[in-house]
Amino acid sequence: MGLTNVRGVPGWERRAGAATIIDGKGIAKRLREELAREVAEFVAERGHPPGLATILVGDDPASAVYVAGKHRACEEVGIRSFAHRLPADASGDEVEQLIDELNADDAVSGILCQLPVPPHLDGVALTGRIAPGKDVDGLTVASAGALALGRPSLRPCTPAGVMHLLAEAGVGLAGADVVVIGRSNLFGKPMAQLLLMADATVTVAHSRTEHLPDLCRQADVLIAAVGRARMVRGSWVRRGATVIDVGINRTPDGLCGDVDFEAVAAVAGAITPVPGGVGPLTIAMLLRNTFEAARG
Ligand SMILES: NC(=O)c1ccc[n+]([C@@H]2O[C@H](COP(=O)([O-])OP(=O)(O)OC[C@H]3O[C@@H](n4cnc5c(N)ncnc54)[C@H](OP(=O)(O)O)[C@@H]3O)[C@@H](O)[C@H]2O)c1
Repeated sequence: MGLTNVRGVPGWERRAGAATIIDGKGIAKRLREELAREVAEFVAERGHPPGLATILVGDDPASAVYVAGKHRACEEVGIRSFAHRLPADASGDEVEQLIDELNADDAVSGILCQLPVPPHLDGVALTGRIAPGKDVDGLTVASAGALALGRPSLRPCTPAGVMHLLAEAGVGLAGADVVVIGRSNLFGKPMAQLLLMADATVTVAHSRTEHLPDLCRQADVLIAAVGRARMVRGSWVRRGATVIDVGINRTPDGLCGDVDFEAVAAVAGAITPVPGGVGPLTIAMLLRNTFEAARG
């Protein structure tokens, strides 16, 4: 079945008789354009751009690709970026020392330590060393605690991106039944907190959850962040539900999400594709957090 654009509805595409496809790529592009204007105003006022420092320990190729993408995105909106690369055998002390230097550097508004770090290092402890005001990934204990208490802080980029997609898709969350599959610190837990703040009724499922398909079928909004290719079947989804696919899985047929896209799109009301759904929002939110951190 071919895709047809709905004219006059930017960032949206509709397929006849099936789900609306939420165009994360288009939505993120608009966010970045808006941000580029705000960054230009900031530079005119303050005389310097916001700055993002990234720390990459080791030579994991996927991490290197992600970090390079973040630098390119910074450049596009006028944010300065500083790439720090340490060898795979760097000690915890070396990484901590670098984080301390970046915490003290006024040109650096945001710091990101690319995870996962090599196994001899403690990623949570290293991230925790980042000053809360520069924690653009929103993953330190201070940021997670502020989120749990509903206090202002920099929010984790991927869940914040999903909230933006849901808002753009016009999905009402107050009183809605939302099922999040996955309970990671990076995504599932902060996602649940943001949804609660928006008055949704939230269920968080994980590998020990029983009767997962039945649970998913009750959801008005189903969010999958597992890391298992095409796990969510068409029969798991209530007709008309909104389905957000956070998963990124590399398979012999290319990149795919945690949702069996074709089958689910036939029953869902709206769905995000992979690629081009949640991923572009994650980067847009990182840029937005860096800007917010610079603004203070
Ligand atoms: N698009 C983006 O920008 C973006 C950003 C972040 C992550 N991701 C992708 O999102 C996915 C999840 O990332 P993550 O960091 O949250 O992964 P993670 O830390 O590995 O967490 C995976 C979660 O899925 C649960 N799970 C595993 N098998 C399951 C099953 N059979 N049934 C139900 N739940 C199951 C796990 O349960 P337990 O807790 O019981 O083990 C865990 O809570 C990955 O594909 C990742 O690449 C994408």
